[in-house]
Amino acid sequence: MTPTASEAADLFRELTGSAPERVWSAPGRANLIGEHTDYNEGFVLPFAIEYRTFAAVGRRADGMIRVVSTFDRTPVEVAIVELPALFGGSPGEAVHSGSVPEWAAYPLGVAWAALAADGSALAKIPGVDIALASDVPIGAGLSSSAAIEGATVGALDDLWELGLTQLDMAKIGRIAENQAVGAPTGIMDQAASIMGQNDAATFLDCRTLETQPVDLGFAREGLRVLVIDTRVSHSHSTGGYGERRASCELGARQMGVPALRDLTTGDLDRARQVLDGVTFRRVAHIVTENQRVLDTVDTLRAEGPRAIGGLLVASHVSMRDDFEISVPELDTAVTAALESGAIGARMTGGGFGGSAIALVERNRVDETKAIVAEAFERAGFGAPHQFTVAPSHGVLRDA
Ligand code: GLA
Repeated sequence: MTPTASEAADLFRELTGSAPERVWSAPGRANLIGEHTDYNEGFVLPFAIEYRTFAAVGRRADGMIRVVSTFDRTPVEVAIVELPALFGGSPGEAVHSGSVPEWAAYPLGVAWAALAADGSALAKIPGVDIALASDVPIGAGLSSSAAIEGATVGALDDLWELGLTQLDMAKIGRIAENQAVGAPTGIMDQAASIMGQNDAATFLDCRTLETQPVDLGFAREGLRVLVIDTRVSHSHSTGGYGERRASCELGARQMGVPALRDLTTGDLDRARQVLDGVTFRRVAHIVTENQRVLDTVDTLRAEGPRAIGGLLVASHVSMRDDFEISVPELDTAVTAALESGAIGARMTGGGFGGSAIALVERNRVDETKAIVAEAFERAGFGAPHQFTVAPSHGVLRDA
């Protein structure tokens, strides 16, 4: 077991006095390209990373669910039959009541959504203890939350014999995030975390929910993905993320389509006539970004990873200028990485902070890091946290 898996198992022992029955884990993710397209029913191309959250679990006889984590060692305990009341009814209805700490709303929300999805009588389900430990950086835009959801749903599916598919698991994670935690996100992070494969990205059509692994070839080609965590904090349950989502919905309504997915770059002239300036720019980002995801998949397949740099950079420019979700630290990271010779770079995730990624030749990683660090210092920003990630496997049982 990895140190973090052992940490989860130790925490479980501290909580219950016995060893866990199972340990499951799921990873964080980085998005290669396709930002804010998921809730517009468009395309995304994320990959799972090697940083993971571990859930050590065991059944208990009394119908209670108890969660504890290394984020907060105070256990939170709820009767399984009380979960619907805690989260305001059945999935599809209300939002998080605020009566449990936010970190606990993730695993408890997953349990609630998993049981609702299965349609089983809540009272028949055995209780469970869950101990969580994670090495996914928090607040870096690498979906530490999807990793908690993925590890929890994998473990509960196993213990409770729910028979969930990977897609069910991703949907359950999203319900927990949207309705138990109250963050109005799409399904990208959960799908990436559950379905990840080594050295591949997950190409997801967020309308049909069809997925295909797309070979990235980074390892084979001697490339690394450098994450530049700006340490500027972001939160998707408040503020800008929801506003962007509302603009997209307005743009779709005014253009007379069910979702922005239904527009192509050929519709942008008409959009410019119909929409106000701000809504037009938001729509332009989504429409061009969907096309860039499709182009990235084609380019990876036809020419390999060294050919996608221009698409990554165009995606960043679109987020900076049209969707307006970048911050100066992210722009500095991208510019400096490109100056250092990176193949491509862009902010990744929801924006307003978090991380940028840069695709870099293996033997130039240190140089890029140094040039980015210098640029941050010159700009008077706090030092970024820089580390490489490798496209890795999704949810699995560790013990
Ligand atoms: C966050 C959300 C995702 C997605 C991205 C932006 O990570 O959780 O659903 O919308 O932002 O692409």
